[in-house]
Amino acid sequence: MEYLVEMKNMTMKFPGVVALDKVSFNLKPGEVHILLGENGAGKSTLVKMLSGINKPTEGEIIIGGKSYSHLTPKDSVENKIAIIYQELSVVNELSIAENLYVGKLPYKKIAGMKIMNRKYINEQAKKYMDEIGIKRSPNTLVQDISISEKQQVEIAKALAADAKIIIMDEPTSSLSIEETEELFQIIEKLKKNGIGIIYISHKLKEIKQVGDRVTVLKDGAYVETRDVADIEVDDLIPMMVGRKIKASHLGNEAEIEKNNEVIFSVKNLTRKDGTARNISFDVRKGEILGFAGLIGAGRSECMEGIFGAKPISSGEIFLHGKPIKIKDTYHALKKGIAMVTENRRETGFFQNFEIWREISVTMNLKKSRLAGFSGLVHDKDEKKMAEEQVGRLNTKCSGINQMTVNLSGGNQQKVIIGKWLAVNSDVFIFDEPTKGIDVGAKSEIYDIMRGMADDGKAIVMVSSEMPELLSTCDRIIVFRNGEISGVLTNNEATGEATEETIMRAAVAVD
Ligand SMILES: Nc1ncnc2c1ncn2[C@@H]1O[C@H](COP(=O)(O)OP(=O)(O)OP(=O)(O)O)[C@@H](O)[C@H]1O
Ligand SMILES: [Mg+2]
Repeated sequence: MEYLVEMKNMTMKFPGVVALDKVSFNLKPGEVHILLGENGAGKSTLVKMLSGINKPTEGEIIIGGKSYSHLTPKDSVENKIAIIYQELSVVNELSIAENLYVGKLPYKKIAGMKIMNRKYINEQAKKYMDEIGIKRSPNTLVQDISISEKQQVEIAKALAADAKIIIMDEPTSSLSIEETEELFQIIEKLKKNGIGIIYISHKLKEIKQVGDRVTVLKDGAYVETRDVADIEVDDLIPMMVGRKIKASHLGNEAEIEKNNEVIFSVKNLTRKDGTARNISFDVRKGEILGFAGLIGAGRSECMEGIFGAKPISSGEIFLHGKPIKIKDTYHALKKGIAMVTENRRETGFFQNFEIWREISVTMNLKKSRLAGFSGLVHDKDEKKMAEEQVGRLNTKCSGINQMTVNLSGGNQQKVIIGKWLAVNSDVFIFDEPTKGIDVGAKSEIYDIMRGMADDGKAIVMVSSEMPELLSTCDRIIVFRNGEISGVLTNNEATGEATEETIMRAAVAVD
């Protein structure tokens, strides 16, 4: 069997960390090879060797019959490798067609002047767009299309570059159920054309849906490669994690409802831009309240309105029965409402902060009188607290002095969650808290949320992952088109909340 690429004994050392230790991997034409492993296992590090970003410390890459000790970005392109990062790299200001030809726009000479051959690139782009099923004009500006379409543009770009190897690093983390389905159909087509795909995801369900083979990494070491047809997904979990995974993190909703007072209420909240309308709900002490719905249904928009990040046109908010006015996010934090936002990579952390500084940011903000960093700073206390949070979430790092920006994707998120856990608030709003987080850490985060609830906090969790809502939330509110379309209790006695009942409330049936 001729491999598209073979990687042998790849080792990658960063100062203080061995990110990969003698890992081997190969890819066949027309297959989807899944890379699996916990946060920090080395998945991104391995694929970045193929795009020419990482220069391996040791190892051999065999591609097209040639042996390389490392690939430069140019080697990578010449060997028809395309990588689609989670933070997509399309240029918003350019059209779809221009994005396909960035850096190699064809020009024609008219009266001695070089003019971009727009007709040609539009025709070519249309061909690739049709192949993938992008129903837009090639002239459409990329800023006017959805995230899932942007990703499709990235795939079209790979096709335009005649890619034989396409790497997808957590491609579905921002996609809805339907968009994920569309991506899988595109992947099927790519496979038929003999393209090999390296696919990284923390959604275990996807292994059976798209995978042909799966390779597991653990702490930078190679564990095993298996045919997907021969395995059960549950068998893979022990290969990835050393810890036990709990199936349920539910509280006792009947007891909570009977005994615990309402801590936090929202009444008839409507956002100025209308993205969330007429929203009312209560959260009790000790309760985890889930928010389900399709992507774009208005859940995050509603939370931003509550938290003071976006203007509301009407609505009241009550904390411990007293009406409060939240002018802005700083104000919310001061009142005891904490929010872990969804888009953590963009808005989540400071590029030039060490882990400990990052974790102390919110606490300092809360302590300070002004909305700045003017509070008295005690480095020693802050470091101690950072140590606590890092340990609690099992964050993989060389120490609290490491820069957050150098952590793996999932571990960056743990740092950000840690900084919100470090502030002592009564109400916690988590928006997609486990996006990009591995199966072991997910379970730990649910445990922490349940622990906080048991300590008397009220917890709100927005999530697009049904299994997570069903294993963690005591009640689930469903959103549809900016409004609440269902409220379901989640326990065996009532059996109200199931994947089916949630889905039915989330999509319009008429
Ligand atoms: N530029 C860098 N400098 C220092 N350490 C790094 C750098 N890039 C990665 N690492 C370290 O290498 C290890 C592997 O990281 P990698 O990003 O490959 O993990 P991953 O498997 O992709 O995890 P995730 O699922 O969280 O994205 C981590 O411990 C990380 O901190
Ligand atoms: Mg990664």
